[in-house]
Amino acid sequence: MQTVPGRICQRSDLAIRSYGVAIPKLRPFSSGKLPERLPTAKTQRAASRNLAKSRKGFKCRAAAPPAIRERLKIDIEYGLKRGTTDNSYLVRDGKDFILIDVPDENFKEDHVATLEQTIPLQSLRRIVVTHLTPKRLPSLRALLERKQAAGGPLDIHLSNPALQLLRSSLGGDKEGAALLSSVELVAARSGASLEVGTEIALKLIPCPTPRWPDLLVAYSPGDRLLFTSKLFSAHVSPEKAGEDRGEVTDKKGWDAYRNDWRNFFECMLAPVAQQVEGALERLDVVAAPSTQSGSPLQAVLEALRATQAILEASQTARFGAKSMGVRATGVGMVAAALCPMHGPVVRSSVTELVGQYREWTRAQIAAAEQASVAVLYASAYGNTAALAQAISRGITKAGVGVNTLNLEVVPLDEVSLSISKSGGFVIGSPTLGGHMPTQVQTALGAVLRDASAKELPCGVFGSFGWSGEAVDELESRLRDAGFQQAFGAIRVKFKPTAKDMQMAEESGTDLAQREGKATGTEQAVGRVLGAMCAITARDDDAQSAMLASWISQASFDPPGLSVAVKKDRAAEALLAVGSKFVVNILAEGKEKPVIKQLLKPFKPGEDRFEGMDTQVSEATGCAILPGTAAYLECSVADKLEAGDHWVVYATVDSGQVTEEGALSAVHHRKIGTTY
Ligand SMILES: Cc1cc2nc3c(=O)[nH]c(=O)nc-3n(C[C@H](O)[C@H](O)[C@H](O)COP(=O)(O)O)c2cc1C
Repeated sequence: MQTVPGRICQRSDLAIRSYGVAIPKLRPFSSGKLPERLPTAKTQRAASRNLAKSRKGFKCRAAAPPAIRERLKIDIEYGLKRGTTDNSYLVRDGKDFILIDVPDENFKEDHVATLEQTIPLQSLRRIVVTHLTPKRLPSLRALLERKQAAGGPLDIHLSNPALQLLRSSLGGDKEGAALLSSVELVAARSGASLEVGTEIALKLIPCPTPRWPDLLVAYSPGDRLLFTSKLFSAHVSPEKAGEDRGEVTDKKGWDAYRNDWRNFFECMLAPVAQQVEGALERLDVVAAPSTQSGSPLQAVLEALRATQAILEASQTARFGAKSMGVRATGVGMVAAALCPMHGPVVRSSVTELVGQYREWTRAQIAAAEQASVAVLYASAYGNTAALAQAISRGITKAGVGVNTLNLEVVPLDEVSLSISKSGGFVIGSPTLGGHMPTQVQTALGAVLRDASAKELPCGVFGSFGWSGEAVDELESRLRDAGFQQAFGAIRVKFKPTAKDMQMAEESGTDLAQREGKATGTEQAVGRVLGAMCAITARDDDAQSAMLASWISQASFDPPGLSVAVKKDRAAEALLAVGSKFVVNILAEGKEKPVIKQLLKPFKPGEDRFEGMDTQVSEATGCAILPGTAAYLECSVADKLEAGDHWVVYATVDSGQVTEEGALSAVHHRKIGTTY
């Protein structure tokens, strides 16, 4: 390991510095393969000596870097064959400095030391934290301790989730709480952008994703630098890309890094493509002309953009943003450089990278709309996570969307929602103390309770040390419940080898192809669509609710409709002939909270309306739900047994439009084997 303090800006005032840390481990300039055994302090030192020798003319830091006795989890999870960097940027703001991000705890001493060599810490006036994890907290703490000793005021700007993490962890002990009380904590709220600094007016824009709910992006309008946190990152160290002198910019151009950027996107961002698309729209990045030397097109585009901005501003002032259809959220950022959290600063490839991000995001969303597979996993040391990434890659390769969910951080209702929307799933677990972790057990329970999940192709995988009970249990419980496994269980002892990863990837592709292989009839039946409704029913003090889209008008006079209800639905018991029920026709754009609530797995007798703002229909006593376009009060007139469903014929006794002008939410499907 070797620290790389590399200049990324040619300005003579040292206004910006990046601090990169390469992690190529034992043989940084060899084949790039990671060592099989964990590096010891001795081999670490040898590696850093090799690295120092090979950089002729570049002044390496004298102090030996701290030995890493443990392989980093991220290293195992993503292979990191090309190393990575943890970037931290220093920006001048008048007489003061703003620091953007602190690195992983393994680099905390080097980070503070580099900072102290670069500026007097009294002049460090602000820290912007674009993403905070428990692994980064020790670096922040070390810096705060030195800053407190140096003196001078300090503000920390971060998102609300990061603020909560900081308060609950650092504030948890006496010294930490004292450190926090000596600084000003300023939260950037979601949906709002915040200006930071006395002269540079750094703009902070929250860009949360389910994986990183605290993500912030910062923009310095003066020098047109966009600090993009995880966006536009890559796990690659400059040496591996053949850069000289430890530079951390993309001087070698698009071809030197495109696979690294793509790989990072596929592993980390493809599963949250919807949110990435939202962030790209919000930021609306365009390359500054100077970064694309000799590109007259860029100059024209920028001029057009400026004209459009002026037009939009004047129209908005006269008519208001909404009436003009102006995108009120787009910030419109001209970027001379993208400064990410990992990998090179992007100067020469801004147009390509931003364009490709839009392209990759669009393709991923389109694939997910056609069909998608849920990849559920937990992993204590990164081995099962590595398999999950390989399987996800295989699924994406088959052109099928993937929703990769880490069960340690994702709430159970999101897992259920993902399964209900997927055309297949895989579930993975490490074996710890002879069992699977609780989060995997809970998710497995939700899958087993979801009767329609049985129709989906599935698979199991996991890493173990010696006995491997978790994968056995996943496999047998799914098999016993009648689930069809698309590939044999993937069991890997400790760290997956290249062959294991290949097998996992191919299994993902296999499953995705099977998922995509609906028969012509199944695909054709899938084109039948219906309004997205929720049926609420009641019998005395027993109440129930279910989502229903197989619902259709069946008679003019009297007004009547048909509803197909699966025979094993809990609500079916409340739909006997003569019973009353309400059809809540959900409004387009407002359907998601109701869908989310009703797709949650419920225990017998559990209140399905908990936390919902419902009203009661006087005629039926059933619940009227929020987010409807209209509701109908109905009586069951007849029932017809139809395959695995009951077709309920009901007359509509009365009804009301609840939101004038609202359209009904429509449920589009591609195959007729799931709802
Ligand atoms: C505390 C602890 C308990 C473990 N218990 C078992 C066990 O009972 N059986 C087994 O096969 N492996 C066991 N292992 C080994 C892990 O399953 C193995 O390290 C695996 O690679 C972890 O996967 P992960 O990186 O996805 O967390 C244990 C490991 C630890 C640290």
